[in-house]
Amino acid sequence: MKVKNICCIGAGYVGGPTMAVIAYKCPDIKVTVVDVNEARIKAWNDEDISNIPIYEPGLEDLVAEARGRNLFFSTDVEKAIDEAEMIFISVNTPTKTYGLGKGKAADLKYIELCARQIASVAKTDKIVVEKSTLPVRTAEAIKSILDNTGNGVKFEILSNPEFLAEGTAVQDLLNPDRVLIGGGTDEDGFAAINALVEVYANWVDREKILTTNVWSSELSKLTANAFLAQRVSSINAMSELCEKTGADVSEVARAIGMDSRIGSKFLKASVGFGGSCFQKDILNLVYIAKSYGLHEVADYWEQVVIMNDHQKRRFAVNIVKTLYNTVSGKKITFLGWAFKKDTNDTRESAAIYVADDLLNEQANIAVYDPKVSDQKILSDLNYLETRSEAENREGIEVNQDPYEVCKDAHAIAVLTEWDEFKGYDWQKIYDNMKKPAFVFDGRNILDGEELRRIGFVYKGIGR
Ligand code: UDX
Ligand code: ADP
Repeated sequence: MKVKNICCIGAGYVGGPTMAVIAYKCPDIKVTVVDVNEARIKAWNDEDISNIPIYEPGLEDLVAEARGRNLFFSTDVEKAIDEAEMIFISVNTPTKTYGLGKGKAADLKYIELCARQIASVAKTDKIVVEKSTLPVRTAEAIKSILDNTGNGVKFEILSNPEFLAEGTAVQDLLNPDRVLIGGGTDEDGFAAINALVEVYANWVDREKILTTNVWSSELSKLTANAFLAQRVSSINAMSELCEKTGADVSEVARAIGMDSRIGSKFLKASVGFGGSCFQKDILNLVYIAKSYGLHEVADYWEQVVIMNDHQKRRFAVNIVKTLYNTVSGKKITFLGWAFKKDTNDTRESAAIYVADDLLNEQANIAVYDPKVSDQKILSDLNYLETRSEAENREGIEVNQDPYEVCKDAHAIAVLTEWDEFKGYDWQKIYDNMKKPAFVFDGRNILDGEELRRIGFVYKGIGR
């Protein structure tokens, strides 16, 4: 079977870039990305390409080329489902904030709504592809909804987890380490898997396209994210020990990274990992393990999140302690708010939690981030419900000018590793700050020696 029409439900950080790359690489396939969020779709269709709602290096060029040719963005979900042979589900699956599994399990209500909508609209056989990160055995639930509420048409469910990292999404999609496709093990299952393999084979080497059963595929995604997050928590745990013993965590990371069994990537100590996936996926894993009575397995993985929370809190405490045990009324400038560089995504960003802790200490926070809007920063804080919106508004100020934002600050905290921070005129920044002028480098990106020479009190992570 050759796929001619693809529909993707969900025009977010996963659906948007993934479909842009499929459309760009497969001009013969019509790709329609739908979303219930009208403002988001409007932004994807904006004539000024720089207004598309997701910032990813290289994405604008791909969208510019494919949009209107074979890539379309629409709010007409039903029409797109009806026309497609293959439907990707890329809706959000946040951690549940209520009821059973609160704070741990993934909230599957958006997924279920999609499945029900597909079932009610479909008049021809469909291949449904899970793209969102999902707990193991979700495919089974989707299949059950489709088979029991549909009008007799046949559905094949595939799991095709997304491994792209934000900030490098386009490169990750164009040159993936691997593409994983899980599906049914009968003839129809194989046919569906093959249909998706043929889509990717337009630009990915066939040796890099792995096919498995659907549960292995679902669990592989959670496992990959758990292992990656565990590496960050492991190096962050060592960073605290380094600070006590006089070792330098960058030197330790370099030394262990040269061991080919360990590898050098993903060993940067930081103020803590963020992003929509790591914490959610691990909590999900913990929930699944507990639900099977595997308490040791659950506790083992939960520790990765506990360590990450500790690292964020420790950064805030360190600022307070260093500033003579009080930040009340002091201006603390945050450079960066996004959870990593080259994205405007702020979900679970360490900056939010560090700001919250410092606001509790009555600090005045000033923020500069090259890609995050002031409304987003305020809404991230409001979402925590620690204090009223008015109080957050009073405690936080956002400035579009990196030099202005540092003026009269007692301390600067680097929360995101944006490259531009390294190139600033740090002498000029120093001259306009309160003295002693402190820099807390939560990403170890600045030249500490140079900053000390200028006169800063410079504190990195794990050194
Ligand atoms: C992650 C996975 O990498 C990706 O495969 C999956 O599809 C989605 O989740 P993402 O969250 O977009 O991707 O970014 P990633 O590069 O993994 O970074 C996650 C967090 O870890 C960021 O906050 C980053 O700053 C932090 N990190 C990463 C570190 O603190 N140190 C490191 O060495 C690496
Ligand atoms: P991700 O990082 O997983 O892509 P996002 O939150 O960026 O998550 O994107 C998910 C998108 O899915 C949102 O734009 C949301 O409006 C959309 N969405 C959620 N449920 C539905 C639905 N039933 N139909 C269409 N779009 C949906």
